[in-house]
Formats: sequence, structure tokens, C-alpha cells
Amino acid sequence: MHELPTAVAAAIEAARAHSADPLALFVYDLDALRRHVSLVMAALPAGVELYYAIKANSEPQLLATLAPLVDGFEISSGGEIERLQACPTAKPFVFSGPGKLDSDLRAALQQGVEAIHLESLQEIARLQRLAQQAGRVQAVFIRINPELPPTLSSKLAMAGTATPFGIDEAQLAQAVALVDNASHLRLQGFHVHALSHQLLVERHEQLLDFYLQRWPQWKALSRRPESLTHLNVGGGIGVDYLGTQQFDWRRLCAHLGRRLAATGEAPILRFEPGRFISAFCGYYAIEVLDAKTSHGKHFLVCRGGTHQFRLPVAQGHDHPVIHLPKAGQPAPTPPRAWTVVGQLCTPKDVLSRDCPLGAVGIGDILVLPLAGAYGYNISHADFLCHPRPPQLFLQGQVAGGVPCE
Ligand SMILES: Cc1ncc(COP(=O)(O)O)c(C=O)c1O
Repeated sequence: MHELPTAVAAAIEAARAHSADPLALFVYDLDALRRHVSLVMAALPAGVELYYAIKANSEPQLLATLAPLVDGFEISSGGEIERLQACPTAKPFVFSGPGKLDSDLRAALQQGVEAIHLESLQEIARLQRLAQQAGRVQAVFIRINPELPPTLSSKLAMAGTATPFGIDEAQLAQAVALVDNASHLRLQGFHVHALSHQLLVERHEQLLDFYLQRWPQWKALSRRPESLTHLNVGGGIGVDYLGTQQFDWRRLCAHLGRRLAATGEAPILRFEPGRFISAFCGYYAIEVLDAKTSHGKHFLVCRGGTHQFRLPVAQGHDHPVIHLPKAGQPAPTPPRAWTVVGQLCTPKDVLSRDCPLGAVGIGDILVLPLAGAYGYNISHADFLCHPRPPQLFLQGQVAGGVPCE
């Protein structure tokens, strides 16, 4: 059962009262975000850093909340650099991702990017040229696509198999030699972002152990191994959308602490999670416009839809739904398994199938929690020219929770 914080429920009610049309909006609980990230950071062992991957959600209010708490940010485009420039607290940032534009790389160099993660042999030569033009010696990480044991992969593999990301381990010696020979690049370490949606802490422990075991061999490829200090182990920590068994971050950190203490010449380790940082603070609230039965299936047609919250279709899951009945609702329908859909003219516009809810009436609100990462920002919001949903950012509200269906 998911809980809706009192402040979030109150904000939704207030928005409904002021809205001429039925409601579709996002609410972000910035106090909850701050509490969550403080705990995440407090669990990190000595010698481990955390950069937030802003692709998960780069709304200015989230970045302003996170900046004083995290060690830095990971970005993947010139647009994301602009988001950081607008952030009131300046933090170090690193730049990864395939297909970087020259203009984005120039902007990163100009803005004092801490490190650039190199994704191909061609990119090494290109960055050398741009860094030379900028008159700057740029710290870089080589992103590796390692040979991974099959047991260590996940639902969304980004390494250990054929992907456009990073440089295959078989080509690593060549890549290191290219960087070693580049007058305006300085190899600072390696980067591996191998997967997303990791919910199994044991598997993630094994993955990090595997990287740490490989580190001395990777480092030894360089002519100056002593100058390699960092191993970026990516993000990929999953969120349990369908249950309540969230990833045991403290256990992972405790394991890492023991492992690093037992490792001679351990690198500084850097995490760069996105989803696990911002998912929990976001809620997508939609109002029920219609209730109907078709060929034996019961549908709730709601304001908004997957053009505003594509996450459930992107993941292929049925999103959890919290029901907020409208006060004084006259004739509610009987309890049923409802399929929750949006306003789009496509049968793919489904947020949750066969969702067991109580008596639902027109005008009730359904709230989809865990909507703070890869929610609104990965959605095709202009489809059908519906207006974009408002986004509310709550701060300094009274904490608390009301149990809901
Ligand atoms: C290079 C890199 N780092 C970090 C992340 C964040 O991953 P997640 O949100 O799964 O933690 C991504 C996501 O695609 C990525 O591509």
C-alpha cells in the first residue's frame, strides 16, 4: 500500500479547487527528496562519491534542492549544461553519453566540466582537438563496455553485450594508448554504467566486486597508472514500482565499505544514479472523466495520460494507483478491477491495467506515486496538442501521511 503525504494530498485538493477544467498535474515533495537524499549520502562509506544523473529529472527546483547535498552532477547534453548553469549552487559535473556534439563539448570545456566520459575511439581524437583549441588539458574517463558474467546483467543492459555505449574491453588498451598520447587529455579513471533497474542488492554487490577486481588490470594499461584515481560505477539502482521492497542502499554501502577497506590501492568510487534519487518524491495526479465498460472490461478515462507520464508504458508495467475520492460524491460505482487510461486516441494510452480500486466516481482523483524520475521528461507531451500539465513543487509543508487504497 502506498501512502500519500498529507501535504501532497492538500496541494492536489487546492489545485482542484482552483482549476476550471478537470485536473492533471505533477506534484514534487522537495522536503521528502531532501530527506531521502540526505540518508542516501549519509550511508556512503569513506572514499565513495555520488553524482546525480540529471537525465532522470532536471527540473530547476529539484536541482536546487539536490545541489547542496550531492557531490556533483552527471549530464549528457548541452541542454543539461544550461540547466546546471541556472542552478543557484555550483557543483562539479561530468559529461557522458553517446553522440556528443562538438558544440556541447565546447560548452562543457568552457563551463569547466570536471571530466568527460569518452564513449568511442573517434570521440577521443575529437575531444583532443577541441581541448587543444580551447587551450585546456581536460580530465577524462574512458567508458568501458566490459565482458560481464551473464549472471550480472539486468532487465535493461547497457554493457556486457552489444550496445552503442562505451568502448569494448577488447579495445581498451588501444583507447588508453590514444588518451596517453593525447597532449590535451589526462586519463583520470574509468566509467562503467552497465544496467538500469537493479533491484537485487546481492547482484549489485557482485557487480561492484567485479569492477574492483578488474580495476588493477584496467589501470595497468596506462603508461601513468599512478595518475588514475577514479572508478565511476554508474547508476542503475532500481525502484520497486510494483511492490514495496525498495533497494537496500545501506546494505550495498556497508558491503562496499568492507570491500574497499580490504582492497589495497582502491580507487575513489563514484556512483551516478538518477532514478533511485528522484523517483520517490514525484506524484502524478489525474482526475476521472468517465467510467465505462467495454467487452467486459472496466475503464476509467482520466485527464492526462501517457503523453504526460510515459513511464508505465516505457517500463511495460501497471503503475500503482492511489484513489482520492471526491468529497460528497453522489453515486459511486461498485468496487472493480479498473483499467486506468488517458485522453489519447490510442489503445496504448494505458497507465494501469486491472487495478483493484474501491467505488470510483467521476471527479475522483487518482494519484500515481513514484513519478519523480523518467516521468514527465520522457513523455511525448505535445501529442494531440493537449496543454502541458502544471508541476507543483512543495517545500516547507507539514510532513505526514494519509493511508489510501
Ligand atoms: C551514463 C549514465 N549514467 C547514469 C544513468 C542513470 O541511470 P539510473 O537512472 O538507472 O540510475 C544513466 C541512465 O541512462 C546513464 O546513461
